[in-house]
Amino acid sequence: MIVLTARGCCTDSQWDEVFQELEKEFARRNSLDENSRIRKETITKQYTPLHRDVYTLQQKFFTQEFLNLVEVCKNSSSFNSRLKSLVRDACPGKLLYYIPVFTAEFCGKLMEELINFEKAPCPKGRPNTMNNYGILINELGMDSFLNNLREEYLAPVCTVLFPDWCGTSGLDSHKAFTVTYKLGEDEDLNYHFDNAEVTLNFCLGQNFSGGQLYFGNMYDMPVDMSLCTTTPNRPLMGILHRGRQRHGALPITSGERYNLIIWMRSSSVRSAMCPMCKRKPVLVRADGFGDGFKQVAMAGSHNQN
Ligand SMILES: [Fe+2]
Repeated sequence: MIVLTARGCCTDSQWDEVFQELEKEFARRNSLDENSRIRKETITKQYTPLHRDVYTLQQKFFTQEFLNLVEVCKNSSSFNSRLKSLVRDACPGKLLYYIPVFTAEFCGKLMEELINFEKAPCPKGRPNTMNNYGILINELGMDSFLNNLREEYLAPVCTVLFPDWCGTSGLDSHKAFTVTYKLGEDEDLNYHFDNAEVTLNFCLGQNFSGGQLYFGNMYDMPVDMSLCTTTPNRPLMGILHRGRQRHGALPITSGERYNLIIWMRSSSVRSAMCPMCKRKPVLVRADGFGDGFKQVAMAGSHNQN
């Protein structure tokens, strides 16, 4: 408080307002799990899906290129030459990989489902403090889809591509959501790092221009925007990256884009040090995955929601 006041960030008279805001945010974060559980129950009762088949993961949802990659990774313990021929480097040396996970047909159906849900008179939980438009898709009833996707397909790939971020536990939990960008709503995303060890950022569509992603250095290095590299945000293509590599999204200039974001977490990595406060976390009981500090009903008390 003394430091912030001395730096002119806040005057003496503004502190009451700041503390009220902090208390409100603290209460909101403490009630995230409970509010999500209530929304999920309501959605289960009230919402009629448009495409029931997208809720159960099927092999036919994946591109052959992705299935080939998964197969090779399941049978590899290191980045070998066979794998090198299958991986699409988005920026050499930066551990950024293009990954064409889903087919156009699946993406089209999932988008229709998301748009249908947006229009439905059901409660919606928003993804996080940085995105105001999008859906927490586990609340939509996609838990088994997401668990299967992470365990059987994404984790084997990440274990080979990002061995330092999977830990002894592997990527054993996740948080998944969609984000939507369009003019007049969320248009860009500020520079940040994720509360995740590895992130899949998959562009579902639709037609848009702008919205490129940019990546810089890691969260524990001084911010240096001159190190940033920009990559296109192409429909039907994903990018796999380390969650703690700083990144952002440039403004969309026309159209509307939908991205599916999956934050994959390793309890053994984050239980040693919380990625957000960089201290050893104090564990508190949580429903489901919590913030991924430890699977099965225990989770850390820190998050960026
Ligand atoms: Fe992010």
